[in-house]
Amino acid sequence: MLLNASGCLDALTAPDVARGLDAFVTKTVTPLPRHGNTPVRIAETEVGMLNSIGLANPGIDRFLTRNLTQLGELGVPLWVSVGGFETDDYAEICSRLDDHAEVSAIELNVSCPNVEAPAESAAQIVSASRLATRKPLWAKLSPAVPDIAEVARAAQAAGADGLSLVNTIRGLKLDSRTLRPALGPGQGGLSGPALKPIALAAVATCYRATQMPIVGMGGVQTGLDALELIAAGARHVALGTVLFADPDAPARVRTELHAAAAERGWNAYEDAYAVAHEETLSAGTTLDERSSV
Ligand SMILES: Cc1cc2nc3c(=O)[nH]c(=O)nc-3n(C[C@H](O)[C@H](O)[C@H](O)COP(=O)(O)O)c2cc1C
Repeated sequence: MLLNASGCLDALTAPDVARGLDAFVTKTVTPLPRHGNTPVRIAETEVGMLNSIGLANPGIDRFLTRNLTQLGELGVPLWVSVGGFETDDYAEICSRLDDHAEVSAIELNVSCPNVEAPAESAAQIVSASRLATRKPLWAKLSPAVPDIAEVARAAQAAGADGLSLVNTIRGLKLDSRTLRPALGPGQGGLSGPALKPIALAAVATCYRATQMPIVGMGGVQTGLDALELIAAGARHVALGTVLFADPDAPARVRTELHAAAAERGWNAYEDAYAVAHEETLSAGTTLDERSSV
């Protein structure tokens, strides 16, 4: 499946872009409305984009009364990204989404800076959410943790159905003239090409640790980028920053993905699933154990 990354596509203003995806993921919804951080909230860097949106969203009440019906009419399966500042926030939103047939899955954004990463907190959020909904739960993790495998295993044990990997990683851009932060709040989340090797490592590590279904994302610009994430162990791929520059990315990446798989001798890109983990040497080959490169 090809999805968008949360916060990188407004399906109500660009419905045709959303219809090019196999599922649409909403911007993270929190219990109360949030205006987000002070501008400037987006800055380009040499290797990607920095954002400090600060989870601006209408809050769950307005999301349910206004957005959800309209999003349901798109005809694309809908994943709702859920965020909060404590475990109960997540559980409350999950229980309110549970009866809505339009929602096919919930992505738990356990990687916003306020709930960053100790294994217990991701696990607590997942298990409280698990009790609150029957919907499939995908835990979206930060790559900026000492041991992402541990967080992934904790999310799995707490009842997550899959993992979304990865969220942005904190970065800082300085204005070249004033040498002051380019973003209003100072630092922001780095996305785009710089994130690709980090995402590949996180996907490969969590695939090995859990064998769970994974949505891979981080710096995907081409079909080959998507194929690499699949080879590392992602079942699905999400497009984020690329959508700001190229709204035609869903169709283009899909075409390139099929071509990149065919060029490597596969009938379907799914055949590349987790091949990065397979032994490439023929049986009987003796390795020189002294070499690490
Ligand atoms: C402008 C912007 C807003 C984002 N908002 C959210 C969000 O609300 N919730 C979330 O889980 N991730 C959010 N993200 C992170 C993306 O979903 C994704 O994990 C990240 O950008 C990496 O993918 P990419 O390199 O393809 O952009 C946002 C990213 C950007 C650039």
